[in-house]
This record gives sequence, C-alpha cells and structure tokens, in this order.
Amino acid sequence: MVTLTRAVSCLLNIISFFALSAIAGDVDLLISFKNSLPYPNMLSDWNRTNAMCQFQGVTCKGGHVFSLTIRGLPLGADFSSVSAYILPLANLETLTLHSTNLTGSISEPANCTEQLKELDVSSNDLIGSVSDVVSLANSCPSLQSLNLSENSIGQAFYSSLPVLPRLKKLDLSNNNITKNGDIQWLFSKLGLLIHLDLSNNNIQGTMPHITNCTSLKHLDLSANQLSSTIPAGTFSECLNLTYLNLSANHFTGNTPADIEACSALVTLSLSNNNFSGEIPILSHVAMPGLRLLDLAFNNFNGTLPKFIPNLTSLEILDLNANQLFGPIPPSLCTYNISSLKELYLQDNYFTGSIPDSLSNCTNLVSLDLSLNLLSGTIPSSLGSLSNLKDLIMWQNNLNGGIPSELSYLRSLRNLILDYNNLTGIIPDGLASCTSLNWISLASNQLTGPIPIWIGKLEKLAILVLRNNSFTGSIPLGLGDCKGLAYLDLSSNRLIGSIPPALAKQSGKLVVDNVVNGRNYVSLTNSKNTQCHHTESFLEFNGIRYPDLMRMPVITCYLCFTLICHTMSLTAPYLLRFLQCKV
Ligand SMILES: *[C@@H]1O[C@H](CO)[C@@H](O)[C@H](O)[C@H]1NC(C)=O
Ligand SMILES: *[C@@H]1O[C@H](CO)[C@@H](O)[C@H](O)[C@H]1NC(C)=O
Ligand SMILES: *[C@@H]1O[C@H](CO)[C@@H](O)[C@H](O)[C@H]1NC(C)=O
Ligand SMILES: *[C@@H]1O[C@H](CO)[C@@H](O)[C@H](O)[C@H]1NC(C)=O
Ligand SMILES: *[C@@H]1O[C@H](CO)[C@@H](O)[C@H](O)[C@H]1NC(C)=O
Ligand SMILES: *[C@@H]1O[C@H](CO)[C@@H](O)[C@H](O)[C@H]1NC(C)=O
Ligand SMILES: *[C@@H]1O[C@H](CO)[C@@H](O)[C@H](O)[C@H]1NC(C)=O
Ligand SMILES: *[C@@H]1O[C@H](CO)[C@@H](O)[C@H](O)[C@H]1NC(C)=O
Ligand SMILES: *[C@@H]1O[C@H](CO)[C@@H](O)[C@H](O)[C@H]1NC(C)=O
Ligand SMILES: *[C@@H]1O[C@H](CO)[C@@H](O)[C@H](O)[C@H]1NC(C)=O
Ligand SMILES: *[C@@H]1O[C@H](CO)[C@@H](O)[C@H](O)[C@H]1NC(C)=O
Repeated sequence: MVTLTRAVSCLLNIISFFALSAIAGDVDLLISFKNSLPYPNMLSDWNRTNAMCQFQGVTCKGGHVFSLTIRGLPLGADFSSVSAYILPLANLETLTLHSTNLTGSISEPANCTEQLKELDVSSNDLIGSVSDVVSLANSCPSLQSLNLSENSIGQAFYSSLPVLPRLKKLDLSNNNITKNGDIQWLFSKLGLLIHLDLSNNNIQGTMPHITNCTSLKHLDLSANQLSSTIPAGTFSECLNLTYLNLSANHFTGNTPADIEACSALVTLSLSNNNFSGEIPILSHVAMPGLRLLDLAFNNFNGTLPKFIPNLTSLEILDLNANQLFGPIPPSLCTYNISSLKELYLQDNYFTGSIPDSLSNCTNLVSLDLSLNLLSGTIPSSLGSLSNLKDLIMWQNNLNGGIPSELSYLRSLRNLILDYNNLTGIIPDGLASCTSLNWISLASNQLTGPIPIWIGKLEKLAILVLRNNSFTGSIPLGLGDCKGLAYLDLSSNRLIGSIPPALAKQSGKLVVDNVVNGRNYVSLTNSKNTQCHHTESFLEFNGIRYPDLMRMPVITCYLCFTLICHTMSLTAPYLLRFLQCKV
C-alpha cells in the first residue's frame, strides 16, 4: 500500500517535472542555441529579460514554441546546434531557417520530436549525401515537408535505408547531386512522396527508373545533365502526376509513349532537350487538364495535326525553335482549345497563311509566329482578340496591309512585324492602342507619313520604322513620347530637318515604361556598302541563336549580340539614332 502511494506520488512528480521542464525547457533550448552561435548578438532579443514568445522569429501556442522562422539573418550556426537545441523543442511544428548561413553536415541523426511537420533549411551551406537526407526525414517521424533547396547536398552515397516514411514534399533543387546512382536509389524510396524537386543539380546519366510512381504528383528533374532516350515504361504508372518538368537536359529520341498514360498532367515541360520526331502528344493523347505544354527548343519535326481534340484546357502551347513545317491548322482554335492564351510557333518552317480562325481563341494574349515561311495577309479577324498583348510575326512573307481592325486591340503592347512584305500606311486607328510599348515595322514596304498620333502613345518605348518608304517630315509630336527610349527612322524617304523638339523628353525618361524583360538582338553592319544600316535591333524571344542565319538579310550584318532581360536604353541611344541619315 505504502509502496503504491509512493509510486503514484512519484509518478505525479515525474509528470509535473516534465510539464515544468517543457516550459522552462523551451527558453533554455533557445538560449543555448543562441549561445552556440559565433555571434550570439545576432539574436539580441533572445534574452531572459524578454518574454520568450516575443523572441524574434518565435510563434507560440499555449506558451510553447510552435514555430520558428528566421530568414536572411547570417546566424552562421552549425547544423549540430539546430539538431541539439531547436529540433528538440517539444511542440515545434514548423522550422524555417532560410538563408541563415547554416553550415555543417546533416548526417548526424537529428533529435526530432513527434511534432515537427515542416523543416525548411533552404539557401544555406549544408552538406550531406542523398541518403543522409532520407535518414534526416526518417528521424523526424511526422515530417511532411523537407526543403533543402540551395545547399550543397550530394556527397558520397551509401546505406540501405527504408523508404521515406511520411514525407510528402522534398525539395533538393539547386544542390550538387551528380551521381545517377543517388537518384536511382532515391527513386526506390519514394514512399508516399507527392512533390519531388531535383532541378538544378548536376545529375548525369540516363533517366532513372521510378520504382513506385503511384503517389507522385510533382516531379521536377529540369536543369540537369540527363541524357539519351527515356526508356519505355518510365512513366506508365505515374497516373497521378500533374507536373512534370524535364526541361534543360540532353534527352534524345521521341517522347516516351507511356507519358500518354499520365492523363492527370496539368503542366508538361520537355523544352531545351534534343527530342526529335513527330509530336504524338498533340494528336492522340487525352490530357483534359493539361494547361501548359512546353516543347520549345528541341528537334521535333513533322506537321501539326489537323485536330487537337483532347487538350481542351490548354492555355500555353509553346513549340518554338523546332523543325515543324506545313500549315498552321485552321481548326486549332475550334477543336477545341479556345482556352489558349499563349501560342508560340516562332522559329519553325510553317508555311501557308495565318488562319482566320485563330480569332476563335478568344482568350489569346500572346501570338508569336516569327521566323517562319508564312505568306498571305494578316487576318483582320485578329482584331477581335480583345486580350491580345503581343502580336509578333517578324521574318515571314506576309503581304497586304496592316489591318485597320487591329485598332480594336486595346491591350496591345508589342506590335512587331519586321521583315515582311507589308504595304500601305500605318492605320490611324492604331492611335487607340494606347498600351503600345514596342512598335517595330522595319524592312517592309510601308508608305505614307509617320502618324502624328504616335507622339500620344504614353507607354511607347521603342519605335522602329527603318527601311520602308515613309514620306514627309518627322512629326514634332514624337518629342512628346514620355518613354521613348529607342527611335530608328533610317532608310526612308523622309525630308526636312531633325526637329529639336525630339529631344524634349531627354533626361526625363520614365524607366518603368521601358520594355520589360523581353530579349532583343543587336545586329551590326558588316561594312557591306549595299546595306545601309550601322546597327539594327530586333525582338528576339524564343529564337535559337544560330537560326538567325535563316534570315536573308543576315548577309548585311557582321555581328549580333543577344541582349537578355530588362533593357535599360537611355538617352544616349536616342541621340545616337538622331545622327542617322534621314
Ligand atoms: C534583451 O531584449 C530586449 C528586448 O529586445 C532588449 O531591449 C535588451 O537590450 C536585451 N538585453 C540584452 C542584455 O541583450
Ligand atoms: C540529441 O540529444 C541528446 C540528449 O539530449 C544529446 O546527447 C545528443 O548530442 C543530441 N544529438 C544531436 C545530434 O544533437
Ligand atoms: C552568409 O552567406 C553568404 C552567401 O553564402 C555570404 O555571402 C555571406 O558573407 C555570409 N555571411 C556571413 C556573416 O558569414
Ligand atoms: C524551398 O525553398 C526555396 C527557397 O526558399 C523555395 O523557392 C521553394 O519554393 C521551396 N520549396 C517548396 C517545395 O516549398
Ligand atoms: C506503391 O505505393 C502505394 C502507396 O503510395 C502503395 O499503395 C502500393 O501498394 C505500392 N505499389 C507497389 C507495387 O509497391
Ligand atoms: C521547368 O524548368 C525550367 C528549368 O528549371 C524552368 O525555367 C521552367 O520555368 C520550368 N517550367 C515550368 C512550366 O515550371
Ligand atoms: C540532337 O540530335 C541530333 C540527332 O537527332 C544530332 O544530330 C544533334 O547533334 C543533336 N544535338 C545536340 C545539341 O545534342
Ligand atoms: C524527322 O526526324 C526524324 C528523326 O530525327 C527523321 O528520321 C525523319 O526523317 C524526320 N522527318 C521529316 C519529315 O523530316
Ligand atoms: C468543344 O468544347 C465544348 C465545350 O467545352 C464542347 O461542348 C464541344 O463538344 C467540344 N467540341 C469538340 C469537337 O470536341
Ligand atoms: C469560329 O468557330 C465557329 C465554330 O465554333 C465557326 O463557325 C466559325 O466560322 C469560326 N470562326 C472563324 C473565323 O473561323
Ligand atoms: C530593306 O527592306 C527590303 C524589303 O523591303 C529588304 O529586301 C532588305 O533586305 C532590307 N534591308 C535591310 C538592310 O534590312
């Protein structure tokens, strides 16, 4: 009896000791962590005069540390300190130490509690092997999400661990994983993993076999060094896959037929590889949820199918920089992808005319058909695409006029039609396209005056009318364009002098108005006397650099420089082009 009472009281003591030590324990652990830092004062408010729940980064629930989030503070902690003092916090559910200069190896078994669900230690200098990642996940029994992106994982691989227990998300992007064996091994441990990101490593060899793909929804293997053909059967079990990104590798051959089984796909990117042959996905694959299909920068050839019947949700179709030929099927927007917002067909060998029926893709925002062999006129029906922002069709054989119906395109930002055979005048209606930012009509046979209203386009940054037959004088109003950064009117039939009013805005350029994030190429004259231009300048999105050689005019140019991203053209450019012979 006495023994029993004593045992009960002892048990009570133990319980209250644990309750107290849990509360005291959290502060002690945090202070110990702070004291383990090379510069403890980084966390100056982590001190005992301050309430723990007020500490920087700490969120409490019921008086216990529930989450800790520190971003962008160079704590310089070793991972062993995290493991010794932070992971044991009894109620910690989420821990984020993003970009905090964590160092050391993740290989020591961690002191994880049952509670921890999310661990984000991205953007640090942690080292370890892929199997250490799996052990870390295994030592945290409730962990669902582990983010080790932007570290130095990828050291020698060993051990025979069980599968990942409960982990749902694993982000190992931007590390130093190189060995195909590591990935092959990881792919046999996936367990219930839903989201796996291995992008931007240096993984070599062939596409690894996925042992059990049933749970996987998001797989990113992009920007690695994977090569050769994808073995049949690789994806046949990936029935739940919604995101697959294999872009920026060295895959060859055709796309694996079993990708067709992945009917849940929403995003499929195979761009920047060396895939070849025809594109089966377009003609006979049912992916009713597919929104983005990116096959750009490959060697796909053949024609587009007459009907694309089963991609009814497609919003972005990117086929640029391939070897596709034949007509653009008139049925493209009828059967049955009227959801299409972006259509990129530039840098191929498409022939025939631009189908009227593109106007049935009423949601279209971007249309790029540049560097093809298209002929005929620009359909006036395109004027009904009220959301269109980009109408880009340089280097084709288009003839006829610029349709006046384009004046209905109130959202139009980029109108780029250089190197065609367009005739007639610039329609006055375009004055209503007040969002225009880049107008480039070089090397056509356009006539008439340079419209005065161009000066009223507040957002205009680039105006290139080079090498046409424009007549009259340079309108004074051009000097009113607040954002005009680049003006090329050379090689026309303009008369009169250069109006000083053109320089009205100089030094006042509104930087926000300048073209945002589009690539352009700068071409420099080879001193060929038959080509008048010292330098010209061309929109250049989604074109393979050597394919510039396909432009007949290229013989005029000695060098081209590809300039990416945000342009910062400023006044000196404007002045330089004012010196051109007009
Ligand atoms: C403790 O934190 C408080 C609140 O941030 C701060 O005012 C105080 O200076 C700190 N004390 C020490 C000794 O760092
Ligand atoms: C885990 O906790 C134990 C006891 O508190 C400690 O001895 C050990 O060093 C800790 N392990 C790590 C990796 O910090
Ligand atoms: C933290 O890491 C960044 C990037 O690795 C480095 O540039 C910086 O110098 C480091 N800061 C400290 C205080 O160690
Ligand atoms: C992991 O962290 C990186 C860097 O903060 C972030 O970009 C990425 O979205 C995170 N991954 C996941 C799966 O949340
Ligand atoms: C694949 O994993 C799922 C759980 O994600 C499991 O139910 C199924 O039995 C596994 N299949 C095989 C063949 O191991
Ligand atoms: C696919 O991966 C590439 C390279 O990592 C990336 O640039 C691209 O945005 C990804 N595509 C999609 C649709 O997420
Ligand atoms: C792509 O594959 C073709 C054969 O299909 C080959 O001729 C070409 O050299 C490859 N290109 C690259 C960049 O690997
Ligand atoms: C398409 O490419 C494949 C493989 O590169 C080649 O065998 C085939 O002849 C090409 N077809 C056409 C029509 O060019
Ligand atoms: C096109 O889509 C509409 C609605 O999404 C549907 O009613 C129609 O049957 C489809 N037509 C064809 C030819 O698939
Ligand atoms: C748009 O599609 C409808 C059928 O959905 C068709 O009757 C019409 O002719 C098409 N418009 C054009 C310009 O092709
Ligand atoms: C000027 O335009 C004509 C077509 O109008 C074209 O043949 C010629 O190549 C162009 N010259 C330059 C240098 O762009």
